[in-house]
Formats: sequence, C-alpha cells, structure tokens
Amino acid sequence: MYHFADAEPDRSMKRFVPGPERQREFRDALGRFATGVTVVTTITDEGPVGITANSFSSVSLEPPIVLWSIGRHSRRFPAFERCERFAVHVLGADQIDLSRRFARSGDAFTGLEHDRNEDGVPLLRGCLSRFECERFAAHDGGDHVIMVARVNAASLANGEPLLFAAGGYGRFDRFV
Ligand SMILES: Cc1cc2nc3c(=O)[nH]c(=O)nc-3n(C[C@H](O)[C@H](O)[C@H](O)COP(=O)(O)O)c2cc1C
Repeated sequence: MYHFADAEPDRSMKRFVPGPERQREFRDALGRFATGVTVVTTITDEGPVGITANSFSSVSLEPPIVLWSIGRHSRRFPAFERCERFAVHVLGADQIDLSRRFARSGDAFTGLEHDRNEDGVPLLRGCLSRFECERFAAHDGGDHVIMVARVNAASLANGEPLLFAAGGYGRFDRFV
C-alpha cells in the first residue's frame, strides 16, 4: 500500500492512457482523491441489504439531491439497481468495522442491531449523518450505474469522519 509519508517531495507526474493494461495505475491515480466512507442500505424481498460506498457525493441543495454509484459486477447490484428507496450513512472514524463488514459479501445485517424507517429501509446506528433517499434518476456509468436520489429526510450527529484514500482508512487532520 502507498504511504504518504514515504512519498518524495518530487511532484513530477506520470501521464498515461487508462486501459486494461493500466488499471493499477488508473486506480492509484483515482485513489489520490480522498473521500469519506458511507454504507448504503435498502430493503428487498429477501431482507435488508447494505454496501460500503465511497462514491457518494452531494449534488443539489434545492431540491436536495445526492448521488452514489454501484458497480455492475457487485452481487448486490440487482438489489440496488431496482430499489426505489435507500439510506446513505456517513461513517465516523470509529466505524471501520462497519465499513469492512458491508464491503464483504453476504448478510452483513446478521447480528447487527438497526432500525427501520416508515418505508422499511434499514437505518444503522452511530453514524455521523444519514440521508433517507428516494430514487430520482439512474444513469449509465460504464461498469457502474450512477444512482441519483432525492433526500426525503436527513439526520446529523457530531463526530470525526472516517476517510478513505490510497486504498486505506484514515482520519481528518485539520490545517485551517
Ligand atoms: C472504502 C470502500 C468504498 C467502496 N465504494 C464502493 C462504491 O462506491 N460503489 C461500489 O459499487 N462498490 C464500492 N465498494 C465495494 C463494495 O463495498 C463491495 O465490496 C463490492 O461491491 C463487492 O460486493 P459483492 O461481494 O456483493 O460482489 C467499496 C469498498 C470499500 C472498502
């Protein structure tokens, strides 16, 4: 894994055309962009489903709209592609376990205490913020589908965010 502290001060850049042979470098370049970490949850006929996602982004304040993208390769893709309602949970720095749990396959809800909203969408506890969403649009994004959603309810708590960059977890170190 790439460690920032080991990086030389040299900022000369390596330019390349992304393609099947350059996937590692392309992923590395994308990984220089630090993000927060979310878990997106929904309900299906087979029960609750969740997935760890760092593709979450704010889009519009009025109306309130957010987006995230789901990989077509994921076994959880059919559940999220169809769902009309879902909840996005922004994780705190103390929730790495939750991020790992929902990145793994399977029934991550087993043994996990959670609540449900009026639409039956699973709501996780102890997160920094939460957006209860209704599907607004879904766009083709290559090997992902971009899910655009209207936020019907937002929740907010205090705490330190969990960050993800260069394939690893970290915390926010404020400069100013
Ligand atoms: C920090 C982190 C962020 C992730 N972000 C996304 C994402 O935005 N979209 C996505 O489809 N998968 C994302 N994944 C991968 C999924 O959580 C999951 O591991 C993957 O879809 C494989 O699921 P499957 O085992 O059901 O096939 C992320 C994983 C991690 C650890």
